Amino acid sequence: MDSTPINSELVNEVIDAFGIHPAGKSTIRELVKIVNDIESISGEEFIRMEMGVPGLDPTFVGVEAEMIALRKGVASKYPNIEGIKPLKESAAEFIKMFMDVDVEPVHCVPTVGSMMGGMASFMVVNRSDQHRTGTLFLDPGFPVQKQQCLVLGHTFGSFDLYDYRGGKLKAKMTEEIENGQYSSILYSNPNNPSWICLNEEELQIIGELSMKYDITVIEDLAYFGMDFRKDLSQPGVPPYQPTVAKYTDNYILLVSSSKAFSYAGQRIGMMIISPNLFERRYPDLKRYYSSDKFGHAMIFGALYALSAGASHTAQYALAAIFEAVNSGSYNYIEEVREYGRKAVIMKALFKKYGFQIVYDMDLDEPIADGFYFTVSYPGLGGPQLVEILLYYGISAISLEITGSSRIEGLRACVSQVRRDQFPVLEERLRCFHEHHPIP
Ligand SMILES: Cc1ncc(COP(=O)(O)O)c(C=O)c1O
Repeated sequence: MDSTPINSELVNEVIDAFGIHPAGKSTIRELVKIVNDIESISGEEFIRMEMGVPGLDPTFVGVEAEMIALRKGVASKYPNIEGIKPLKESAAEFIKMFMDVDVEPVHCVPTVGSMMGGMASFMVVNRSDQHRTGTLFLDPGFPVQKQQCLVLGHTFGSFDLYDYRGGKLKAKMTEEIENGQYSSILYSNPNNPSWICLNEEELQIIGELSMKYDITVIEDLAYFGMDFRKDLSQPGVPPYQPTVAKYTDNYILLVSSSKAFSYAGQRIGMMIISPNLFERRYPDLKRYYSSDKFGHAMIFGALYALSAGASHTAQYALAAIFEAVNSGSYNYIEEVREYGRKAVIMKALFKKYGFQIVYDMDLDEPIADGFYFTVSYPGLGGPQLVEILLYYGISAISLEITGSSRIEGLRACVSQVRRDQFPVLEERLRCFHEHHPIP
């Protein structure tokens, strides 16, 4: 290989020591380890696009509220598993203000990030009917959620949403549901990694099918409000974050604080259970939990068993953040909009040096600029491309591990890349392009 920005022998050694070939087959956290090792041995800083770590400061009101709670001594007390009252109340109001959906505080329960919200959802939803133990993933998606199903012994199926947009979704989902034994359907919206955003027609299809086949929809809102093409930031004013909750009463919403409020480190999120589902009784739940009531099994069965609640101080932080955004005194979207602005510049650089955007359209519009974008390079498969880019000091993950049907591509996350790194990114892409001419 021609001389690369990062010493190729060193990269070879780290990849060999790690033992996954090609390195692009690695999971997100495995790639983080590989890149950390290369960085520390070489002393060279990478353009890090492999992991969705927020690149902004944590929301200030959260930090302040958390420090006050800590000083008041809540750290010595076990928090209520159901969540502290101010958080439950402000979360219900947040759902009304930003989704126009009615739930009561009792239906809003804190989790240790949406990661745990997903795990707990599988543990209850996929055990509510002994004849069904599976999840239908509308892919591409967040790989670790399938890992959660695997460790629970649940089955899953998936298809690439991009191939079945709009009206085509109904027939494909019906086929999958009728051939599978699903208790749940999961998707993220906006979608990680493709950044497509499901529209009202599609959400209606999903909602109606969930009612028809009695399947619970787990709507993962890790990127709440972050379709920057619309202004979803005004409390109580349309447009709202689109949601399946408008079309079914069989849903769980996972609201993460990690990206929208840059609060990933404190591991706090909210699970919103539809009022109807919360009250519903499933006799088969008694196999695992003391109650057949869904809400009870979720809180006093799954969440108790997992961690007995979410960190006390982080609950105060999220309550304060919700209160600030609900009142309109803090506009969280203004902060995270920076991701979209960086995506415009970074996509242009990749395209300049021969890359193509993989998921490039959102129905009949160009894909929005957001937290992630997807790229491919002619003649290279995804895992291979991920590995080669390591020699150029650029890290990303392969779309192959996301359930994408477009396995030639990779997912790039804009959040950790600083604007002052753009010239280095350009230089490295230029060098890569020179070494890999497109025929
Ligand atoms: C689609 C999706 N779901 C869930 C999560 C996890 O969120 P949390 O940090 O709240 O656990 C992420 C994080 O990247 C994500 O992208």
